Amino acid sequence: MKIIEVDNYEQMSLEAAELIANRLNEHNEFVLGLATGGTPEGAYHLLIEWNKQRKLSFKHVTTFNLDEYIGLDREHESSYYYFMMNKLFNHIDINKDKIHIPNGLAMNLAEECARYEEAIASAGGIDLQVLGIGQNGHIAFNEPGTSFDSKTHVIELTPSTREVNARFFNDPKEVPTKAITMGIESIMSSGELLLLVSGKEKADAMKRLIDGNISEDFPASALKQHPSFTVIADREALSKVK
Ligand code: PGA
Repeated sequence: MKIIEVDNYEQMSLEAAELIANRLNEHNEFVLGLATGGTPEGAYHLLIEWNKQRKLSFKHVTTFNLDEYIGLDREHESSYYYFMMNKLFNHIDINKDKIHIPNGLAMNLAEECARYEEAIASAGGIDLQVLGIGQNGHIAFNEPGTSFDSKTHVIELTPSTREVNARFFNDPKEVPTKAITMGIESIMSSGELLLLVSGKEKADAMKRLIDGNISEDFPASALKQHPSFTVIADREALSKVK
């Protein structure tokens, strides 16, 4: 695990966007795993700017998102599909056929999970996966207790996750109770992992990630076993680490 400590959110976003841009520029074809949430937004904003300035292209990039709520329409402003289109995909030169986000409205969710795994495999696997961490240590929507052997699956969101994510909804009651998420093993199969962390709300999670044991009670701890795992975290997020 390589930890890059930065001053604040802006610095984290810049470091992350530079790492992603470097990888995209180094390869003719690239499979990029993406995350939603407040954390990666700043990095996406920079990638959009650099794409507009032609410093960076996404024409050769295939993307896979980590997760999606079950039961939300794509047009729902809190769906991850809507987030990704508005915060990134609508503003860059990516081929829309190369975007993948789990379908949380699929009639057969088990089939959808299997289809998603197959799509990742047929793309040749994910080269770089961008991640955030939940206050409870979840990675994507893999809540505490999820098997490290898990592939894309349906998960019941914990009350604490629903509470934390209520800020993205008009009414907390609207937060779905379930989601489709790539599993821990699906994430660990990526060539490289990049975890972005900012803010004091994440300080306890970072302490446990860095100073604690590897355990299924704390999903993010699995990442420490990955040979190419980089964390970019700001001072507040690292304030409780020994
Ligand atoms: P956040 O979400 O970026 O909105 O903090 C991270 C997560 O829950 O994984």
